[in-house]
Amino acid sequence: EAEQHFSRELLSWYRANKRTLPWRVNRDPYRIWVSEIMLQQTRVDTVIPYYERFMDRFPTIRALAEAPEAEVLKCWEGLGYYSRARNLQAGARMVMELYGGEVPDDKTSVAGLKGVGPYTSGAIMSIAFNRAEPAVDGNVMRVLSRYFCLEEDIAKPKTRIGIEKLAVSLIPEGAAGDFNQGLMELGALVCTPKSPSCLLCPVMEHCAGRIAGKEHELPIKTKA
Ligand code: ADE
Repeated sequence: EAEQHFSRELLSWYRANKRTLPWRVNRDPYRIWVSEIMLQQTRVDTVIPYYERFMDRFPTIRALAEAPEAEVLKCWEGLGYYSRARNLQAGARMVMELYGGEVPDDKTSVAGLKGVGPYTSGAIMSIAFNRAEPAVDGNVMRVLSRYFCLEEDIAKPKTRIGIEKLAVSLIPEGAAGDFNQGLMELGALVCTPKSPSCLLCPVMEHCAGRIAGKEHELPIKTKA
């Protein structure tokens, strides 16, 4: 009941309220991949101009794979965490060598690309290929911890695994990409860490964390 309410309301809220972002103009797996790598440690507003420049300079996997590494790093300059850029190029070279230049529609293959961890592979599989895979980052753990009033420590791998299972079970039929992006969008715009905007939230009515008055205490996280 609460689960169905959550899935239905989140999906329709996302479709009505999603921001127009440059990686949302189409479902090109390469464009989704680049965006998810940039967004790993960097805010959306900071990423946008870098993303636009990067896609202008390296519009295809082939262009990225064939570029000198120094040019890729120059394009990344200011974004930080430069191993992301090196790994992304190594991943592009893997796609050229192993998959004929196309990101494979296969979870295991995508997860095997340099620089692509469980979160990023789930994001690519769901957003680019609409596969029912979880894409659980800190934002998503916060949203689900609050809605279901989960009081387990999100720093524990076991908790994350449980939340990933829950996240998959909530994906509406045929709407994995929009649903997962809706979770991210709710965490970014409404269910924020410090002062969640519960009055604007499409699922506040059945939010167990809010009903318990614990929205500011959740999620529970021990170690930094
Ligand atoms: N953060 C991580 N992935 C994102 C996405 N696809 N859109 C907005 N914010 C994100």
